[in-house]
Amino acid sequence: MRLGSFFLLSLAAALSSAFVISAPHMWTKLILTHHWPSTFCSMEHCHANISYWTLHGLWPDKGILCNSSWHFNPSEIEDLLPDMEKSWPDLLNPASVEFWKYEWHKHGTCAAKAATLNSQHKYFSKALELYHKVDLDSILKKFDIIPSDKYYSFSQIEGVIENFYGVKPKIQCVHPSKNADVQILGQIEICFHPDFTLLDCEKEFTLETISKGGWDIPMGVDKASGFSVCDHDKPVYYPPLP
Ligand SMILES: *[C@@H]1O[C@H](CO)[C@@H](O)[C@H](O)[C@H]1NC(C)=O
Ligand SMILES: *[C@@H]1O[C@H](CO)[C@@H](O)[C@H](O)[C@H]1NC(C)=O
Repeated sequence: MRLGSFFLLSLAAALSSAFVISAPHMWTKLILTHHWPSTFCSMEHCHANISYWTLHGLWPDKGILCNSSWHFNPSEIEDLLPDMEKSWPDLLNPASVEFWKYEWHKHGTCAAKAATLNSQHKYFSKALELYHKVDLDSILKKFDIIPSDKYYSFSQIEGVIENFYGVKPKIQCVHPSKNADVQILGQIEICFHPDFTLLDCEKEFTLETISKGGWDIPMGVDKASGFSVCDHDKPVYYPPLP
């Protein structure tokens, strides 16, 4: 092969791989979000009767509401429903599928741009699989981070998670008021590469969301309420069931 055409081929290969990497609409990180029902329900006025970390969602870092014509269809995930009800409950409406429908439309249709998640069954079963693999609730218990009336330091909680998984989580709290000297543990995010291996949550862009009306919405709409990143210097309250 002549040098000139070799050069052109290499250039074409370099351009196409650069294009794949930076394709504007493809996500590069998945965020597995857990919430703590007692904290969630104290904000949303639901009745918390669950004392384990439940799934909030599996969110790609880019895109929301990617395909409004791809309707949520519970019959496609029928085999997953018993696990969904336990692991991913709708804390506001326990008997409803609204929460899953919302998460599918908002995040699932974007996650589905990857071949590994391009059906409702793939998306929800992968979320459940990651949730069980991570098993956050057992890990916190195992290292004596237990809901109680005592307070934890932020670094104690972060340290357990970081040491165990080897990656940085994102830990969010509720701040009862602007100048409160305590904060309430509410949400924990564990992040993944597109191949589902663990990734530091702090790397690259993170979808900032807060919770309103029970569900995540993009940050900036109402910063006054909802979850935000915990303050490293304030004690953390990890509330037991009321
Ligand atoms: C919590 O309460 C709901 C009804 O409000 C019920 O359907 C559900 O089974 C309860 N969960 C547990 C773990 O007791
Ligand atoms: C949106 O979803 C519908 C229904 O699954 C599908 O037929 C269509 O190809 C999707 N559109 C895009 C742009 O992915």
